[in-house]
Amino acid sequence: MMEDLKIPRHIAIIMDGNGRWARQRGMPRIMGHYRGAEVAEDIVKYCADLGVEYLTLFAFSTENWKRPKEEVELLFELLRNYLTQKKEELIKERVRLKFIGRRDRIGKDLRRLMEELERDTAEDFRITVILAVDYGGRDDILRAVNKVMRLEFDHVDEDTFSYFLDLGEIPDPDLMIRTAGEKRISNFLLWNLAYTELYFTDVCWPDFTKEELLKAIEDYSRRKRKFGRVLDE
Ligand code: IPE
Ligand code: IPE
Ligand code: MG
Repeated sequence: MMEDLKIPRHIAIIMDGNGRWARQRGMPRIMGHYRGAEVAEDIVKYCADLGVEYLTLFAFSTENWKRPKEEVELLFELLRNYLTQKKEELIKERVRLKFIGRRDRIGKDLRRLMEELERDTAEDFRITVILAVDYGGRDDILRAVNKVMRLEFDHVDEDTFSYFLDLGEIPDPDLMIRTAGEKRISNFLLWNLAYTELYFTDVCWPDFTKEELLKAIEDYSRRKRKFGRVLDE
């Protein structure tokens, strides 16, 4: 079985169900986010061991600002603490960190920290982890359109346009996983998911494990990716 595994070069994950996970245990939602951050850390290491080159994690969407102020603040505090505490470990584990999404609505200190981590993890790495923070697929496309207009292009093709999107030269995700049973994209990478294989599981993100990831990759390995073509019989 293991020999047949096709390891996706780029995996994208909508880490959903933190709130429900906590609720089911009679805990405040933020506890689900804490546990979720630990799970993300494990999954990063496991993906690196498997040879996944890029892992994009949806951490906060442009729509998540609509949540109660307290939850939003705690989420950003969690991110700030995480980035501060884990810097050395990321370097030791050879994880290169990148961020996608808007930066203009994020506090200056956090923004500096994000830039610092991007810089300091860029040297020697075995996996690139892309954290989507204040990210929306539509917002990404619009920011790209505006960049193109500022440069006064009168025509762009798909490859050129992709370059202006947040993922830039990073290849499109091969596999997108969403946890917690919801079957929607929720404004994640709209452009880049055009031909991505989608995998949904009912497991809430704080319960997601290596075994669950392997299940998703096994499922992916059995897919026939056609990209519109007819495959040889
Ligand atoms: C995903 O879990 C994490 C973020 C969106 C930040 P949720 O917080 O959406 O959890 P549910 O969907 O309410 O269970
Ligand atoms: C998507 O999850 C965003 C993240 C995981 C960061 P949501 O929980 O915000 O999505 P909806 O509201 O169920 O569509
Ligand atoms: Mg949710």
